[in-house]
Amino acid sequence: MRRLVRRWMPIGKDAAMRKIVCTELGPPSGLSLEEAPDLAPWPGQVVIEVEAAGVNFVDALFIAGSYQIKPPLPFTPGSEVAGRIAAVGEGVEGWAEGDRVLYSCGLGGYASQVAANALGLTRVPDALTTGQAAAFGQSYCTALFSLRERAHLRPGETVLVLGAGGGVGLAAIDVAKALGATVIAAASSSDKLASAVAAGADHTIDYSAESLKDRAREIAGGTGVDVVVDPVGGDLADPALRSLGLFGRYLVIGFATGDIPRLPLNQVLLRNRSVLGVDWGAWGMQFGAENAALLADALALAADGRLHPAEPTAYPLDRVADALDDLTNRRVHGKVVLVP
Ligand SMILES: NC(=O)c1ccc[n+]([C@@H]2O[C@H](COP(=O)([O-])OP(=O)(O)OC[C@H]3O[C@@H](n4cnc5c(N)ncnc54)[C@H](OP(=O)(O)O)[C@@H]3O)[C@@H](O)[C@H]2O)c1
Repeated sequence: MRRLVRRWMPIGKDAAMRKIVCTELGPPSGLSLEEAPDLAPWPGQVVIEVEAAGVNFVDALFIAGSYQIKPPLPFTPGSEVAGRIAAVGEGVEGWAEGDRVLYSCGLGGYASQVAANALGLTRVPDALTTGQAAAFGQSYCTALFSLRERAHLRPGETVLVLGAGGGVGLAAIDVAKALGATVIAAASSSDKLASAVAAGADHTIDYSAESLKDRAREIAGGTGVDVVVDPVGGDLADPALRSLGLFGRYLVIGFATGDIPRLPLNQVLLRNRSVLGVDWGAWGMQFGAENAALLADALALAADGRLHPAEPTAYPLDRVADALDDLTNRRVHGKVVLVP
């Protein structure tokens, strides 16, 4: 794992802006690296010199054309970046060249420069490296939104996290611990479980070798767990649902397996369980102020040392296909960033 060390370079001193372009839908190997003139900010915008761009599972879905939103071709993928402000547009107040920011750009993040609406910028706390900041928003906001706003997690409850070595999984462990829960991390390998323990997990289950339901119930003292965090889907959903105790809540976050499970409703009825959908992205777009407050809360917890995002694995921009392949083929632990 490489630590990100890169000096800020103002616009104009580099040859040109570089960006990854998707010209046809398909595997990441079809992406190309292009050069373009340096960006200049419109009124109300700043240009960010990107030091790290978060790579998320959903980016691969955009590129494959299998996400519900299909941007017109060609487009530059990448929804979150961190870096320094390199140019400030007319009418922008409160921001200056050199400020360290993170920004949720929707698309366009896999690039050395991003033009950003100044109203959407967030200052990066000193406690976070630029790599941690670039990979923070989606994973930690999803985790905090799920556990605090959807499941109303209470201190002392037990949380079972599936895909615990992945981006959402590690963030969910960290957030659940910060909220006072006991965490059972479940993943497919001892390496990923070691990452989960480093993130604070109290117990582990290797679901490639052990019965998820039996082990989770055993660890929870026979009564079952209070909350399941599921970004994985597929065959794990059924045993995970059955591992829930009285008033247990099942958080449906994603389907990394690509398989959308069907849950037996009798198992929801039993023990007064609840199945809760989590669509942080849509919620964030509809409730912008609340989402900004959620991100501010998560960053404040990180700045106070109560959240501990792991340093992401960094790939150079031109190795975007490797980064996406490694992520979607379960070869990486935690988060991934591209370094332009
Ligand atoms: N609902 C929301 O608001 C929201 C927000 C963010 C992300 N998501 C979704 O949540 C899911 C996970 O995101 P993430 O960032 O945590 O991804 P990630 O870092 O790639 O982690 C996903 C984990 O899923 C497990 N997995 C099991 N089968 C898999 C397969 N066939 N392919 C890939 N992974 C597999 C892997 O763990 P093991 O190898 O240990 O099984 C992997 O670590 C994605 O579908 C993403 O789109 C949803």
